[in-house]
Parts: sequence; structure tokens; C-alpha cells
Amino acid sequence: MVRKSRKSREEWKIYKNVFDQFTTRKLFELTSQGHIGDLEQPIALGKEANIFIAHNKENVPVIVKIYRLENCNFNKMHSYISVDPRFIGLENQKRKIIFSWVQREYRNLMIAREKIKVPKPILFRDNILLMEMIGEEEPAQQLKNLPPENPDEFAKKIIKNIELLLKAELVHGDLSDFNILNLNEEPIFIDFSQATPIGTNGAREMLERDIKNALNCFKRTLKLDLNKITEKLLKKYDELASDKL
Ligand SMILES: Nc1ncnc2c1ncn2[C@@H]1O[C@H](COP(=O)(O)OP(=O)(O)OP(=O)(O)O)[C@@H](O)[C@H]1O
Ligand SMILES: [Mg+2]
Repeated sequence: MVRKSRKSREEWKIYKNVFDQFTTRKLFELTSQGHIGDLEQPIALGKEANIFIAHNKENVPVIVKIYRLENCNFNKMHSYISVDPRFIGLENQKRKIIFSWVQREYRNLMIAREKIKVPKPILFRDNILLMEMIGEEEPAQQLKNLPPENPDEFAKKIIKNIELLLKAELVHGDLSDFNILNLNEEPIFIDFSQATPIGTNGAREMLERDIKNALNCFKRTLKLDLNKITEKLLKKYDELASDKL
């Protein structure tokens, strides 16, 4: 049974303070088309996005990632520049970039899931992405808030995931203990909007940074040789990248 949205268009306007008009309209569309019910508890306020839980038709919890269309600097810049007739339409340019960013995250998740467990992407609509919720009843904890029982085992699984992702020809680009969830001692990578294909400008440096940042939180206790691991993964990267030339 569809958990029908109980919000009318009027009620959605309550969200006006949180979301701009455009986003409010998109959320109304998604609920009235039956993709999701009401937005339930917010679970994170990220750098660029707000994350909520909602339930789908099958009453399964899904993650609704809503990229904010505005930020303070942009608002200020925009209020000055929008009165200048030479710069009409700038707002839409910014939107286009954000929409592509959302689409990029969706596509990256589709590629990544061929090799590792990531949230299954469900759909994207402009600045909104729907995806599977990682976790059982509740969203899984970030690694930052739930250190693993066996750091060495966990670190090995992270390294394996990075390697498998390379086989999918992708570098995550923003790995950290914020963007790795600890699901029953399994590292689950999330937040793929920055992920980029191997061979792209800067991808090798991103990989190097990912390894460092992903393992940073248990660096002190780790028995693994980080330099050796980095060397091995970069070598793997170079092999795969040269195949692409
Ligand atoms: N699919 C998911 N399942 C469970 N929890 C999630 C999921 N996606 C996001 N979260 C939670 O929400 C937080 C923020 O999500 P995410 O990292 O995707 O956004 P963000 O950091 O705002 O993105 P960006 O870095 O692009 O600004 C995560 O750290 C995680 O706790
Ligand atoms: Mg994040």
C-alpha cells in the first residue's frame, strides 16, 4: 500500500523557509507521483545537501538528498549582479551545474555498484537524488561516530573497496570517515558526487588523498604499512590508466 503523502500543496509551503520555491515544487511532484511519501526526520545537513528519510511505495525507507540551490555567498553575489542587465540568467547557469552534479552522483553510484556495495540510486530529479538507505531500521553510522571493533580488518576492507572501485574505473575523490558508513563492520562508501573516471585530470592525486583520508582515523594503531598500500594502489591505477590511452 502506498504511504500516500498527506501534505497538500499549501502544507508544502511550510518548507518554504527551508527550501526555495523550486525545490518545494519538485518535492511536491515526487510525492504526488508516488515516488516517496512525506519527508521524515532530517538526518544530515551537509556542505551542499540536506539529507532526509522518506518511505517509498513499498514502505521501505529511502534517502532523499536535496542539494541546496542557494548558499550565502551566492545570494549576496546574485542580489548585486541580478540587477545588471548584462548578467541576466546567471541563476539558471548555477542551477544547471547543480543539476549535473546530482546526475553525476547518480551515474557514479550506478557504476560503483557493479563492483562494491553502495546505496542503490533510485532516481534523480533536478537537485534531488533518491537512493537506498544504508542501514537496517536506522541509517548506518558514519565511521567517524562508530569506530570499528577491529580497525585492521576494517582498513583492509576499505583498501579492497578502493581497489574494486578502480576496477570500475572510478576514483571516489572525497573519502573520509564522514563518507564511509560502518554497517555491521562493513565499510560502505557513500557521497559519490565528486567521483571521477580514472585518467581524468587530477584523478591520481585524488586517489592518493582518498587512501590517506580514509585510513587517517586509525593510522596510529594500524599494523598495515600505509606507504606500501598506497604504492600498490597507485601502481594499479597507472596500469589501468595506461590501458585507457
Ligand atoms: N544512502 C545513505 N544511507 C544512510 N545514510 C546516508 C546515506 N546517504 C547519506 N547519508 C547520511 O547523510 C550524511 C550526508 O550525506 P552525504 O555525505 O551524501 O552528503 P554531503 O556530505 O552533504 O555531500 P557533499 O559532500 O556533496 O556536500 C552522510 O554522512 C550519512 O550520515
Ligand atoms: Mg558527505
